[in-house]
Amino acid sequence: MTAAVIAVVGASGRSGAALCRALAAAGEAYVPVVRDAAKWAALGLGATPRVADLRDAGRLRAALAGARRVVSCAHARWTAAILAAAPAEASLVLMGSTRRFSRWPDAHGEGVRAGEAAFLAGNRPGVMLHPTMIYGAEGEDNVQRLAALLRRLPVAPLPGGGRALVQPIHQDDVTRCLLAALRRPWRRAETLVIAGPEPLPYRAFLAAVARAAGLRPPPVLPVPAGLLRALAPLTRLLPGVPRIRPDEIRRLTEDKAFDIGPMRRTLGIAPIPLAEGLARTFARPQ
Ligand SMILES: NC(=O)c1ccc[n+]([C@@H]2O[C@H](COP(=O)([O-])OP(=O)(O)OC[C@H]3O[C@@H](n4cnc5c(N)ncnc54)[C@H](OP(=O)(O)O)[C@@H]3O)[C@@H](O)[C@H]2O)c1
Repeated sequence: MTAAVIAVVGASGRSGAALCRALAAAGEAYVPVVRDAAKWAALGLGATPRVADLRDAGRLRAALAGARRVVSCAHARWTAAILAAAPAEASLVLMGSTRRFSRWPDAHGEGVRAGEAAFLAGNRPGVMLHPTMIYGAEGEDNVQRLAALLRRLPVAPLPGGGRALVQPIHQDDVTRCLLAALRRPWRRAETLVIAGPEPLPYRAFLAAVARAAGLRPPPVLPVPAGLLRALAPLTRLLPGVPRIRPDEIRRLTEDKAFDIGPMRRTLGIAPIPLAEGLARTFARPQ
């Protein structure tokens, strides 16, 4: 790898592939690091990958050899492994998740917290970006799954009437944030929340998704969260209805609103409005 080269871990995932596309478009050299060469090849991005599973410390070290900047779009739980394998002089751009702030602990959130703690303790220059819900990528199961559900439901049963706040970020803005983070010189390990321009109640988000998908926003039926959680497993039995997990219902009861001042100031990124992001999402063939 030449000095300028960026190693992209998780290059065959949604955020990784979008970043690689943007790097290629900007003429920036990168090396995709993937566990499945065939999956990478199917994306048609061309660059020759280095193959390493994050569980294999030796292969990972070999894959990252020579990189001056390492960006990881794999789960933050892999941070300690990446820190151990990355060249000492490499700066790091890592993806975390705002799930780390949730009051409901789960393996995902705990993994992000552990990864963030390892990153801050290592104090290698770089940043861990904590995105909120990401929508708009090919194959994402946030907005697309919601639209599939809205096609089936005459009413929207929501805990607390869907008043808790969400602040989704479009995949294109995630890519812009990753690029900005890669281009910025970091002096120490930092963390940054990246989110959409403003929070809105989930019920308004749902209505915006319905309109963007060409559907009539359904009336909202406030239902106690406990009852909905008990009913959630039934979605497995309904043909054509996307599956909903009980923990997802519980998370719909907590506000997920974030100050994006630091994102704007540090990365210089102004995220696109939800309506524009949804228009981009549904303009693509579904
Ligand atoms: N999507 C969201 O709404 C959202 C919101 C907040 C935070 N995040 C975080 O942002 C990051 C990127 O999200 P995403 O939607 O792009 O996720 P994704 O599509 O699931 O991509 C994850 C990537 O990690 C790779 N990976 C997983 N385990 C691996 C292993 N053992 N060895 C090597 N590679 C491995 C996957 O490889 P394969 O391609 O081979 O599967 C994939 O390329 C994730 O950490 C996610 O937790 C996502």
